[in-house]
Amino acid sequence: MGVKQMPSYDVELVDIVKDFESGGGRVRAVDHVSVQIEDSEFFALLGPSGCGKTTTLRLIAGFEQPTAGHILIRGRAMEGIPAYHRPVNTVFQDYALFPHLTVEQNIMFGLQMEGVHKKEARVLAAEALEKVRLPGVGERKPHQLSGGQQQRVALARALVKQPAVLLLDEPLGALDLKLRKNMQFELKALQRDVGITFIYVTHDQEEAITMADRIAIMNDGLMLQVGTPKQIYEHPETHFVADFIGETNFIAGTLIERRADGYGTVRLGDGTVIRAQLSETLGGSAGTVTVAIRPERISISTPLNPPKALGNADEATVLDALLVDSQYIGTDTRYTLRIGDEIELVARLQNIKDQEHAALKIGGNVKVFWQDSSTTVLDK
Ligand SMILES: Nc1ncnc2c1ncn2[C@@H]1O[C@H](COP(=O)(O)OP(=O)(O)O)[C@@H](O)[C@H]1O
Ligand SMILES: [Mg+2]
Repeated sequence: MGVKQMPSYDVELVDIVKDFESGGGRVRAVDHVSVQIEDSEFFALLGPSGCGKTTTLRLIAGFEQPTAGHILIRGRAMEGIPAYHRPVNTVFQDYALFPHLTVEQNIMFGLQMEGVHKKEARVLAAEALEKVRLPGVGERKPHQLSGGQQQRVALARALVKQPAVLLLDEPLGALDLKLRKNMQFELKALQRDVGITFIYVTHDQEEAITMADRIAIMNDGLMLQVGTPKQIYEHPETHFVADFIGETNFIAGTLIERRADGYGTVRLGDGTVIRAQLSETLGGSAGTVTVAIRPERISISTPLNPPKALGNADEATVLDALLVDSQYIGTDTRYTLRIGDEIELVARLQNIKDQEHAALKIGGNVKVFWQDSSTTVLDK
Protein backbone atom coordinates (compact mmCIF):
# COMPACT_ATOMS: atom_id res chain seq x y z
CA MET A 1 0.00 0.00 0.00
CA GLY A 2 1.23 3.45 -0.85
CA VAL A 3 1.70 6.32 1.53
CA LYS A 4 -1.60 7.90 2.44
CA GLN A 5 -1.86 11.21 0.64
CA MET A 6 -2.74 14.29 2.62
CA PRO A 7 -5.88 15.80 1.15
CA SER A 8 -4.97 18.85 -0.84
CA TYR A 9 -7.10 21.93 -0.68
CA ASP A 10 -7.05 25.09 -2.69
CA VAL A 11 -7.41 27.27 0.37
CA GLU A 12 -7.00 26.19 3.92
CA LEU A 13 -7.51 28.35 7.00
CA VAL A 14 -6.06 26.86 10.16
CA ASP A 15 -7.33 28.35 13.41
CA ILE A 16 -7.29 31.92 12.13
CA VAL A 17 -7.70 34.81 14.55
CA LYS A 18 -7.76 38.46 13.52
CA ASP A 19 -7.89 41.24 16.09
CA PHE A 20 -8.07 44.95 15.27
CA GLU A 21 -7.10 47.71 17.62
CA SER A 22 -9.81 50.32 17.56
CA GLY A 23 -10.26 53.35 19.80
CA GLY A 24 -8.07 51.87 22.52
CA GLY A 25 -10.14 48.67 22.51
CA ARG A 26 -9.78 45.44 20.62
CA VAL A 27 -12.18 43.98 18.07
CA ARG A 28 -11.95 40.29 17.27
CA ALA A 29 -13.08 40.24 13.64
CA VAL A 30 -12.23 36.57 13.02
CA ASP A 31 -12.40 34.12 15.90
CA HIS A 32 -10.55 30.79 15.50
CA VAL A 33 -11.79 29.99 12.02
CA SER A 34 -10.71 26.75 10.37
CA VAL A 35 -12.00 25.69 6.98
CA GLN A 36 -10.87 23.85 3.85
CA ILE A 37 -11.96 24.97 0.43
CA GLU A 38 -11.56 22.61 -2.50
CA ASP A 39 -10.34 23.17 -6.00
CA SER A 40 -13.01 24.57 -8.36
CA GLU A 41 -15.42 25.04 -5.53
CA PHE A 42 -17.92 27.92 -5.37
CA PHE A 43 -17.67 28.72 -1.69
CA ALA A 44 -19.83 31.40 -0.07
CA LEU A 45 -19.14 33.27 3.14
CA LEU A 46 -22.53 34.32 4.44
CA GLY A 47 -23.47 36.31 7.50
CA PRO A 48 -24.80 39.62 8.77
CA SER A 49 -22.92 42.87 8.40
CA GLY A 50 -19.86 43.05 10.64
CA CYS A 51 -19.53 39.28 11.14
CA GLY A 52 -16.02 39.12 9.66
CA LYS A 53 -16.58 38.14 6.01
CA THR A 54 -14.52 40.88 4.40
CA THR A 55 -11.74 40.46 6.93
CA THR A 56 -11.57 36.73 6.16
CA LEU A 57 -11.31 37.52 2.46
CA ARG A 58 -8.66 40.19 3.02
CA LEU A 59 -6.60 37.75 5.07
CA ILE A 60 -6.66 35.24 2.20
CA ALA A 61 -5.80 38.00 -0.27
CA GLY A 62 -2.89 39.14 1.89
CA PHE A 63 -4.22 42.67 2.53
CA GLU A 64 -4.29 41.82 6.24
CA GLN A 65 -2.08 39.55 8.35
CA PRO A 66 -3.65 37.12 10.85
CA THR A 67 -3.10 37.71 14.56
CA ALA A 68 -2.79 33.92 14.90
CA GLY A 69 -3.21 30.86 12.71
CA HIS A 70 -2.10 29.85 9.24
CA ILE A 71 -3.32 30.29 5.68
CA LEU A 72 -2.36 27.83 2.96
CA ILE A 73 -3.11 28.26 -0.72
CA ARG A 74 -2.59 25.15 -2.85
CA GLY A 75 -0.73 23.65 0.09
CA ARG A 76 1.70 26.54 0.36
CA ALA A 77 1.95 28.58 3.57
CA MET A 78 1.22 32.27 2.93
CA GLU A 79 3.22 33.76 5.82
CA GLY A 80 5.40 36.53 4.51
CA ILE A 81 3.98 36.34 0.97
CA PRO A 82 2.67 39.74 -0.13
CA ALA A 83 -0.72 40.14 -1.78
CA TYR A 84 0.68 40.61 -5.27
CA HIS A 85 2.57 37.33 -5.11
CA ARG A 86 -0.42 35.26 -4.03
CA PRO A 87 -2.26 33.21 -6.68
CA VAL A 88 -5.49 35.05 -5.95
CA ASN A 89 -7.39 38.00 -7.33
CA THR A 90 -10.12 40.09 -5.78
CA VAL A 91 -13.29 41.59 -7.22
CA PHE A 92 -14.72 44.37 -5.09
CA GLN A 93 -18.27 45.65 -4.84
CA ASP A 94 -17.24 49.10 -6.03
CA TYR A 95 -15.37 47.63 -9.05
CA ALA A 96 -12.20 49.66 -8.33
CA LEU A 97 -11.51 50.28 -12.04
CA PHE A 98 -9.02 52.95 -13.08
CA PRO A 99 -11.28 55.76 -14.36
CA HIS A 100 -8.70 57.33 -16.69
CA LEU A 101 -7.85 54.05 -18.45
CA THR A 102 -9.97 52.40 -21.13
CA VAL A 103 -11.65 49.09 -20.44
CA GLU A 104 -8.96 47.29 -22.40
CA GLN A 105 -6.17 49.10 -20.57
CA ASN A 106 -7.82 48.27 -17.25
CA ILE A 107 -7.83 44.58 -18.12
CA MET A 108 -4.32 44.59 -19.58
CA PHE A 109 -2.82 46.50 -16.66
CA GLY A 110 -2.10 43.54 -14.37
CA LEU A 111 -0.78 41.43 -17.23
CA GLN A 112 1.64 44.13 -18.35
CA MET A 113 2.82 44.59 -14.77
CA GLU A 114 3.77 40.92 -14.94
CA GLY A 115 5.69 41.47 -18.13
CA VAL A 116 3.19 40.00 -20.60
CA HIS A 117 3.82 41.50 -24.04
CA LYS A 118 1.30 44.09 -25.14
CA LYS A 119 0.17 42.16 -28.20
CA GLU A 120 -0.53 39.05 -26.17
CA ALA A 121 -2.18 41.08 -23.39
CA ARG A 122 -4.55 42.54 -26.04
CA VAL A 123 -5.62 39.09 -27.17
CA LEU A 124 -6.14 37.91 -23.58
CA ALA A 125 -8.12 41.06 -22.74
CA ALA A 126 -10.42 40.51 -25.72
CA GLU A 127 -10.93 36.88 -24.70
CA ALA A 128 -11.73 37.94 -21.13
CA LEU A 129 -14.31 40.43 -22.38
CA GLU A 130 -15.92 37.65 -24.45
CA LYS A 131 -16.05 35.46 -21.36
CA VAL A 132 -17.96 38.06 -19.38
CA ARG A 133 -20.19 38.66 -22.41
CA LEU A 134 -19.02 42.17 -23.05
CA PRO A 135 -17.19 42.09 -26.35
CA GLY A 136 -16.39 45.25 -28.26
CA VAL A 137 -16.25 47.76 -25.41
CA GLY A 138 -12.46 47.77 -25.00
CA GLU A 139 -12.04 51.37 -26.17
CA ARG A 140 -14.56 52.83 -23.75
CA LYS A 141 -13.83 54.42 -20.41
CA PRO A 142 -15.47 52.86 -17.32
CA HIS A 143 -17.86 55.81 -16.84
CA GLN A 144 -19.32 55.10 -20.28
CA LEU A 145 -20.60 51.75 -19.04
CA SER A 146 -23.51 50.83 -16.76
CA GLY A 147 -22.87 49.52 -13.24
CA GLY A 148 -23.49 45.94 -14.34
CA GLN A 149 -21.10 46.34 -17.26
CA GLN A 150 -18.42 47.85 -15.03
CA GLN A 151 -18.74 44.87 -12.72
CA ARG A 152 -18.17 42.59 -15.73
CA VAL A 153 -15.03 44.53 -16.60
CA ALA A 154 -13.79 44.13 -13.02
CA LEU A 155 -14.47 40.42 -13.37
CA ALA A 156 -12.66 40.23 -16.70
CA ARG A 157 -9.69 42.04 -15.20
CA ALA A 158 -9.52 39.50 -12.37
CA LEU A 159 -10.02 36.44 -14.57
CA VAL A 160 -7.49 37.43 -17.21
CA LYS A 161 -4.66 36.68 -14.80
CA GLN A 162 -5.98 33.14 -14.33
CA PRO A 163 -5.72 33.12 -10.56
CA ALA A 164 -6.07 29.83 -8.65
CA VAL A 165 -8.68 31.52 -6.51
CA LEU A 166 -10.99 34.43 -7.18
CA LEU A 167 -12.16 36.37 -4.13
CA LEU A 168 -15.41 38.28 -4.57
CA ASP A 169 -16.66 40.72 -1.93
CA GLU A 170 -20.38 41.38 -2.41
CA PRO A 171 -19.73 41.84 -6.13
CA LEU A 172 -23.41 42.29 -7.01
CA GLY A 173 -24.30 44.42 -4.01
CA ALA A 174 -24.52 47.66 -5.95
CA LEU A 175 -26.83 46.31 -8.66
CA ASP A 176 -30.61 46.46 -8.70
CA LEU A 177 -32.55 43.29 -7.96
CA LYS A 178 -33.37 42.20 -11.51
CA LEU A 179 -29.84 42.70 -12.76
CA ARG A 180 -28.46 40.99 -9.69
CA LYS A 181 -30.58 37.91 -10.38
CA ASN A 182 -29.33 37.72 -13.97
CA MET A 183 -25.75 38.21 -12.88
CA GLN A 184 -26.09 35.44 -10.29
CA PHE A 185 -26.82 32.91 -13.02
CA GLU A 186 -24.12 34.28 -15.27
CA LEU A 187 -21.46 34.31 -12.58
CA LYS A 188 -22.29 30.76 -11.61
CA ALA A 189 -22.11 29.62 -15.25
CA LEU A 190 -18.86 31.50 -15.70
CA GLN A 191 -17.36 29.85 -12.63
CA ARG A 192 -18.28 26.40 -13.95
CA ASP A 193 -16.81 27.31 -17.29
CA VAL A 194 -13.44 28.63 -16.08
CA GLY A 195 -13.16 26.16 -13.18
CA ILE A 196 -11.51 28.71 -10.89
CA THR A 197 -12.23 28.43 -7.16
CA PHE A 198 -14.56 31.26 -6.09
CA ILE A 199 -14.76 32.51 -2.53
CA TYR A 200 -17.81 34.69 -2.56
CA VAL A 201 -18.82 37.03 0.25
CA THR A 202 -22.46 37.97 0.57
CA HIS A 203 -24.98 38.92 3.24
CA ASP A 204 -27.79 37.76 0.95
CA GLN A 205 -28.89 34.27 1.91
CA GLU A 206 -30.75 33.64 -1.33
CA GLU A 207 -27.68 34.55 -3.33
CA ALA A 208 -25.56 32.11 -1.33
CA ILE A 209 -28.12 29.32 -1.57
CA THR A 210 -28.63 29.61 -5.32
CA MET A 211 -24.97 30.05 -6.26
CA ALA A 212 -22.72 28.20 -3.85
CA ASP A 213 -21.54 24.60 -3.73
CA ARG A 214 -20.96 25.13 -0.03
CA ILE A 215 -21.79 27.92 2.38
CA ALA A 216 -20.04 28.96 5.57
CA ILE A 217 -22.32 30.84 7.97
CA MET A 218 -20.49 33.43 10.04
CA ASN A 219 -21.58 35.43 13.04
CA ASP A 220 -19.50 37.53 15.39
CA GLY A 221 -16.22 36.33 13.89
CA LEU A 222 -17.17 32.67 14.33
CA MET A 223 -17.75 30.22 11.52
CA LEU A 224 -20.85 28.53 12.85
CA GLN A 225 -21.58 25.95 10.18
CA VAL A 226 -20.19 24.87 6.82
CA GLY A 227 -22.19 22.76 4.41
CA THR A 228 -24.04 22.50 1.13
CA PRO A 229 -27.01 24.85 0.78
CA LYS A 230 -29.27 21.87 1.37
CA GLN A 231 -27.44 20.79 4.53
CA ILE A 232 -27.49 24.31 5.88
CA TYR A 233 -31.14 24.86 5.08
CA GLU A 234 -32.47 21.43 6.09
CA HIS A 235 -30.12 20.67 8.98
CA PRO A 236 -29.14 23.89 10.72
CA GLU A 237 -27.06 23.06 13.76
CA THR A 238 -27.74 26.19 15.75
CA HIS A 239 -30.58 28.55 16.47
CA PHE A 240 -28.69 31.34 14.72
CA VAL A 241 -28.25 29.42 11.47
CA ALA A 242 -31.85 28.23 11.43
CA ASP A 243 -33.02 31.77 11.99
CA PHE A 244 -30.65 33.42 9.53
CA ILE A 245 -31.48 31.15 6.59
CA GLY A 246 -35.09 31.24 5.49
CA GLU A 247 -38.10 31.27 7.75
CA THR A 248 -38.28 28.86 10.68
CA ASN A 249 -40.72 28.02 13.43
CA PHE A 250 -39.08 27.68 16.82
CA ILE A 251 -41.00 25.81 19.50
CA ALA A 252 -39.66 25.81 23.04
CA GLY A 253 -39.74 22.49 24.86
CA THR A 254 -38.05 20.08 27.22
CA LEU A 255 -36.12 17.09 25.99
CA ILE A 256 -37.35 14.19 28.08
CA GLU A 257 -35.82 11.28 26.21
CA ARG A 258 -33.01 10.67 23.75
CA ARG A 259 -33.27 7.62 21.56
CA ALA A 260 -30.62 5.62 19.81
CA ASP A 261 -32.22 6.29 16.40
CA GLY A 262 -31.30 9.99 16.48
CA TYR A 263 -34.75 11.09 17.63
CA GLY A 264 -35.91 12.37 20.95
CA THR A 265 -39.11 12.95 22.87
CA VAL A 266 -39.88 16.58 23.55
CA ARG A 267 -42.56 18.00 25.80
CA LEU A 268 -43.83 21.31 24.44
CA GLY A 269 -45.00 24.23 26.56
CA ASP A 270 -48.64 23.18 26.57
CA GLY A 271 -47.84 19.61 27.59
CA THR A 272 -48.02 18.09 24.10
CA VAL A 273 -45.38 15.42 23.61
CA ILE A 274 -43.81 15.01 20.19
CA ARG A 275 -41.07 12.97 18.54
CA ALA A 276 -38.39 15.07 16.84
CA GLN A 277 -35.01 14.63 15.20
CA LEU A 278 -31.99 15.57 17.31
CA SER A 279 -29.35 17.89 15.89
CA GLU A 280 -25.96 16.20 15.75
CA THR A 281 -24.49 19.06 17.73
CA LEU A 282 -27.10 19.02 20.47
CA GLY A 283 -25.30 19.30 23.79
CA GLY A 284 -26.21 18.12 27.27
CA SER A 285 -28.37 15.14 28.13
CA ALA A 286 -31.80 16.65 28.62
CA GLY A 287 -33.27 20.02 29.39
CA THR A 288 -34.60 23.05 27.64
CA VAL A 289 -34.44 22.82 23.86
CA THR A 290 -35.90 24.41 20.75
CA VAL A 291 -37.63 22.43 18.04
CA ALA A 292 -37.15 23.99 14.60
CA ILE A 293 -39.41 23.26 11.66
CA ARG A 294 -39.71 25.03 8.31
CA PRO A 295 -43.13 26.46 7.38
CA GLU A 296 -43.24 24.56 4.08
CA ARG A 297 -42.84 21.27 5.95
CA ILE A 298 -46.08 21.75 7.85
CA SER A 299 -49.30 20.56 6.24
CA ILE A 300 -52.78 21.64 7.23
CA SER A 301 -55.85 19.53 7.03
CA THR A 302 -59.52 20.25 7.67
CA PRO A 303 -62.01 17.74 9.09
CA LEU A 304 -63.21 17.19 5.53
CA ASN A 305 -59.70 16.55 4.35
CA PRO A 306 -57.94 14.43 7.00
CA PRO A 307 -54.16 13.99 7.07
CA LYS A 308 -53.14 11.24 4.73
CA ALA A 309 -50.13 10.08 2.82
CA LEU A 310 -48.02 10.41 5.92
CA GLY A 311 -46.26 7.13 5.32
CA ASN A 312 -45.64 5.40 8.62
CA ALA A 313 -47.81 7.17 11.19
CA ASP A 314 -45.15 6.47 13.82
CA GLU A 315 -42.84 8.81 11.92
CA ALA A 316 -45.21 11.72 11.75
CA THR A 317 -46.83 14.15 14.16
CA VAL A 318 -50.46 15.24 13.97
CA LEU A 319 -51.77 18.00 16.26
CA ASP A 320 -55.02 19.91 16.65
CA ALA A 321 -54.74 23.57 15.85
CA LEU A 322 -56.72 26.73 15.41
CA LEU A 323 -56.27 28.68 12.21
CA VAL A 324 -55.81 32.29 13.32
CA ASP A 325 -54.56 34.15 10.26
CA SER A 326 -53.59 33.90 6.62
CA GLN A 327 -51.44 36.03 4.40
CA TYR A 328 -51.26 35.76 0.62
CA ILE A 329 -47.68 36.19 -0.59
CA GLY A 330 -47.89 35.36 -4.29
CA THR A 331 -46.35 31.93 -4.71
CA ASP A 332 -47.59 30.75 -1.30
CA THR A 333 -50.06 31.53 1.43
CA ARG A 334 -48.74 31.77 4.99
CA TYR A 335 -51.08 30.41 7.60
CA THR A 336 -50.69 31.25 11.27
CA LEU A 337 -51.84 28.45 13.55
CA ARG A 338 -52.21 28.14 17.29
CA ILE A 339 -51.71 24.93 19.21
CA GLY A 340 -52.96 25.15 22.79
CA ASP A 341 -52.56 28.58 24.35
CA GLU A 342 -48.87 29.13 23.81
CA ILE A 343 -47.62 27.70 20.57
CA GLU A 344 -47.89 29.66 17.37
CA LEU A 345 -46.72 28.17 14.09
CA VAL A 346 -46.52 29.38 10.52
CA ALA A 347 -47.26 26.97 7.69
CA ARG A 348 -46.72 27.80 4.05
CA LEU A 349 -48.78 26.24 1.33
CA GLN A 350 -48.08 26.76 -2.34
CA ASN A 351 -50.86 28.47 -4.22
CA ILE A 352 -51.58 25.60 -6.57
CA LYS A 353 -54.95 24.20 -5.58
CA ASP A 354 -57.50 26.94 -4.96
CA GLN A 355 -60.04 24.55 -3.32
CA GLU A 356 -57.49 23.60 -0.71
CA HIS A 357 -57.04 27.22 0.35
CA ALA A 358 -60.77 27.95 0.14
CA ALA A 359 -61.41 25.19 2.70
CA LEU A 360 -59.11 26.86 5.23
CA LYS A 361 -61.21 29.35 7.14
CA ILE A 362 -59.80 31.69 9.73
CA GLY A 363 -61.15 30.69 13.15
CA GLY A 364 -61.57 27.09 12.00
CA ASN A 365 -60.30 23.97 13.71
CA VAL A 366 -57.75 22.08 11.67
CA LYS A 367 -55.10 19.46 12.05
CA VAL A 368 -51.47 20.25 11.37
CA PHE A 369 -49.07 17.47 10.53
CA TRP A 370 -45.49 16.91 9.54
CA GLN A 371 -42.92 14.19 9.09
CA ASP A 372 -40.77 13.93 12.20
CA SER A 373 -37.70 13.94 9.95
CA SER A 374 -38.58 17.56 9.08
CA THR A 375 -37.84 18.69 12.63
CA THR A 376 -34.53 19.54 14.30
CA VAL A 377 -34.06 19.74 18.04
CA LEU A 378 -31.55 22.49 18.82
CA ASP A 379 -29.99 23.78 21.99
CA LYS A 380 -32.02 26.63 23.38
N1 LIG B 1 -9.40 48.03 9.86
C1 LIG B 1 -10.21 47.80 10.89
N2 LIG B 1 -10.03 48.38 12.08
C2 LIG B 1 -10.84 48.15 13.13
N3 LIG B 1 -11.90 47.32 13.07
C3 LIG B 1 -12.16 46.70 11.90
C4 LIG B 1 -11.34 46.90 10.75
N4 LIG B 1 -11.83 46.17 9.73
C5 LIG B 1 -12.91 45.53 10.22
N5 LIG B 1 -13.12 45.85 11.52
C6 LIG B 1 -14.17 45.32 12.40
O1 LIG B 1 -14.16 43.91 12.32
C7 LIG B 1 -15.48 43.37 12.31
C8 LIG B 1 -15.69 42.58 11.04
O2 LIG B 1 -15.70 43.45 9.91
P1 LIG B 1 -15.85 42.94 8.42
O3 LIG B 1 -14.92 41.82 8.19
O4 LIG B 1 -15.71 44.11 7.53
O5 LIG B 1 -17.36 42.40 8.42
P2 LIG B 1 -18.34 42.04 7.20
O6 LIG B 1 -17.57 42.06 5.92
O7 LIG B 1 -18.87 40.68 7.55
O8 LIG B 1 -19.42 43.07 7.24
C9 LIG B 1 -16.41 44.57 12.45
O9 LIG B 1 -16.70 44.71 13.81
C10 LIG B 1 -15.57 45.72 11.95
O10 LIG B 1 -15.96 46.93 12.53
MG1 LIG C 1 -17.91 43.21 4.21
